[in-house]
Amino acid sequence: MTTPPRKQELASLLAPHGQEHLLRFWERLSPTEQSNFAEQLRGVDWAQVTGWVRQTTDDDAAALPFDQLKPAPYQSLTPTSEEERRTHAEAIQHGEYLLRQGRVAAFTVAGGQGTRLGYDGPKGTYPATPIRKKSLFQLFAEGIIRTQERYQVTIPWYIMTSLVNDRETRDFFQKNNYFGLKPANVTTIVQGMLPAFDDDGRALLAAPDSLAMSPNGHGGSFAALRDSGALDEMADHGITTISYWQVDNPLVKQFDPLFIGLHDLTGADISSRALIKRDAAEKLGHFCQLNNRLYIVEYSDMPSDMLQQKDSDGRLRFRAGSPAIHILERDFVQRLTDGALDFLPHCARKKVPFIDQDGNLVTPDEPNAVKIEFFLFDAIPLANHSLVLETDRSEQFAPIKNADGEDSPASSRAALAARTAAWFKQAGIPFPLDQDGQPAATVELSPRTLNSPEDLQAAARRLPIIQPGKDYYLE
Ligand code: UTP
Repeated sequence: MTTPPRKQELASLLAPHGQEHLLRFWERLSPTEQSNFAEQLRGVDWAQVTGWVRQTTDDDAAALPFDQLKPAPYQSLTPTSEEERRTHAEAIQHGEYLLRQGRVAAFTVAGGQGTRLGYDGPKGTYPATPIRKKSLFQLFAEGIIRTQERYQVTIPWYIMTSLVNDRETRDFFQKNNYFGLKPANVTTIVQGMLPAFDDDGRALLAAPDSLAMSPNGHGGSFAALRDSGALDEMADHGITTISYWQVDNPLVKQFDPLFIGLHDLTGADISSRALIKRDAAEKLGHFCQLNNRLYIVEYSDMPSDMLQQKDSDGRLRFRAGSPAIHILERDFVQRLTDGALDFLPHCARKKVPFIDQDGNLVTPDEPNAVKIEFFLFDAIPLANHSLVLETDRSEQFAPIKNADGEDSPASSRAALAARTAAWFKQAGIPFPLDQDGQPAATVELSPRTLNSPEDLQAAARRLPIIQPGKDYYLE
């Protein structure tokens, strides 16, 4: 039998960091609760986390000098010269070569809490398609299978989960037989958790025997890739290049040879897609440049006058927004996680339920706490070289963030429908449109077989003629 932890020992761990109040309810806890809580308290690097909170709340040194920010240049999606056309053609060939050689892994971040959507379950299990109600995970799995088939290769898929949804995510894959993928090629890696603090820098309790903890942000990816052994595994399997996307974007082109090829040919450490913002209010990160380094600056951090600034041609000056689609070089992730590069978190004010002095649960209406989160894109300025390639929104981005309105399941389904109609057109197959030019039939394509306009074209002879007002599931 293990000896129960001593309060004194924990107090000396916490006191130097002003966190002794966490033991307020210690005497009330059962030996098992004491043990579990002690383990949780010991698992936090208090010097480091309180340092982060102090640093970002005390001084503004971490803030960027906004007046010196310039819009970052990005490569246009459509080549504008003969030379660019050649470069793109070469890049596509090279990207396909890397895929065929098995040098590319897939990485999806799915550890978030999805609070805005308010869906009960991991967001990846959300039914995203109109007819079969396929989950986001299923769409991605089928896209991987199609790509594997196309390049005659195995593409390992790493999915970052968090303690909030890891079990449910793994159960979902198991219950659904990994949607046809080999279980050995689907790996969930669990990101770290960090405590939340009140405005006086005191950690909050979620219960008398547990801290209020939350996932450490999508930037927790890097540490999770290292700590889980995924990076070493990738190295052993000859993976050099990681295709990264977020779980809430069903339109993402998971393996774009052009993007992968350009990334590799330009020797980028990390590459990003950029899309032209809908309007100044669209909440995307902004591609900016400072002292010749590339940054993505959060929408909420940009001063509002900068968001509105226009070019001489009337376009938004900071118009390149980030849909969070990246290529990561495995070597770069290795360097980052070796501690060679200074990768720091952000602190943001959020609503965090907590228990008060008397042990009552408080569910705040207003932000009451400081949450610490790492952002993946904070790695970008640390890269020796990084590439930004424009993307076509209608082809690649329709995230499911909110329950309704913009960036909701409905807007995402509409974007998927519009892309399907566009693919038919590109494949030279008729598709009925209504008076407003919107799809007049609901057609769902299985990414397992029909994952691009080329796939549609190849299948054209066996496809039915699409009639207005009808529903079709095509595979
Ligand atoms: P969001 O910033 O949209 O957060 O995450 P969210 O948790 O999904 O949703 P809200 O803000 O609570 O409504 C963008 C992507 O990053 C992942 C999410 O799963 C999503 O794919 N993410 C976010 C993580 O993997 N871990 C985190 O700690 C945060």
